[in-house]
Amino acid sequence: MRAKITATGSYLPEKVLTNFDLEKVMDTSDEWIRTRTGIRERHIAADNEATSDMVAKAIQNLCERHNISPEEFDMIIVATDTPDTAYPSTACWVQKHLKLKNKVPAFDMEAGCTGWLYGLEVSAGLIESGRAKKILLAGAETMSKAVNWDDRATAVLFGDGAGATLIELTEDDSGILSTYIGANGTLAHLLYQPAGGSRMPASEKTVKESLHSVYMAGNEVFRYAVRYMQMSAEKALERAGLRAEDVSIFIPHQANQRIIDATCKRVGVPLSKTYITIDRIANISAGTIPISLDLAIQEDRVKKGDIVLMDAFGGGFTWGAAVVRW
Ligand code: UT7
Repeated sequence: MRAKITATGSYLPEKVLTNFDLEKVMDTSDEWIRTRTGIRERHIAADNEATSDMVAKAIQNLCERHNISPEEFDMIIVATDTPDTAYPSTACWVQKHLKLKNKVPAFDMEAGCTGWLYGLEVSAGLIESGRAKKILLAGAETMSKAVNWDDRATAVLFGDGAGATLIELTEDDSGILSTYIGANGTLAHLLYQPAGGSRMPASEKTVKESLHSVYMAGNEVFRYAVRYMQMSAEKALERAGLRAEDVSIFIPHQANQRIIDATCKRVGVPLSKTYITIDRIANISAGTIPISLDLAIQEDRVKKGDIVLMDAFGGGFTWGAAVVRW
């Protein structure tokens, strides 16, 4: 008896910001962004749109497509680094937006870009132990409100959006075959938001110095990303008793096309089996994998019986992978 992803949904904000739009407001070029990262455009949340609003829309999308009522969920987990508020959790705001009366537990999962995979590990454990039956696991970010728009090295990399997945028990041979997660907090200083927490509370100085936005040592993060994504994919495949050749579709975290290329090469999965979204949605951190999975399903790239490998890396550092038989 295994846990399984039984339904997906997603939401991308209406506004699209292209590299050419960015050329007009900062010292950058479409050529630099495309060749260094693979990104062409990203979706940007409206001024009045927060992470929970996008999660609620992704859940509505999932429910409509799969004929499910949100009242059926017995737990709501939202993986995010860009919550609506420091507290309560984005998951609680989602309950409020959806006017849910079922009073089920709701909490956030913070594990950088690996957040949704951390959530999958936790959800699978709760489902397989019988403690929950229908977990709504979302991954979502409003990165456009977390970056410093004066820092061209990070501002161009991210996008906004939400992905929703439903985790339930299955009795057939499909489902989550393996998960693997890890972290190395000694590297926390390479990718983080310096101010706004108990270490450096908000002050006039922190606002002036833009310390409430993403700080990233890009080059160093890049090197670790490839290493940890390779390791995660290999461990998850090993735990599932499978090899790279068995993978039908690879859905990696999408931080940089060059990271994806290098990971594919090292793991031994061809690019032709790799589902790419970075060109159109950029890096949506914890939202990337659930959104990409949903887009791949909508494009009929995931079929019954397929072996799906998902793999991520992010701030913390955190990393993880999962192997699923669809
Ligand atoms: O999601 C989880 C974690 N995130 C990642 O995994 C991201 C990992 N890192 C990366 O993807 C890459 O390191 C970046 C895309 C962030 C940067 O690419 P890079 O090839 O490492 O460039 P760089 O930082 O070495 O910068 C090269 C040059 C610099 O100019 P100089 O010093 O050589 O004159 C930068 O100032 O490119 C310049 N640059 C830009 N130029 C035009 C940096 N950002 C931009 C920009 N437009 N947006």
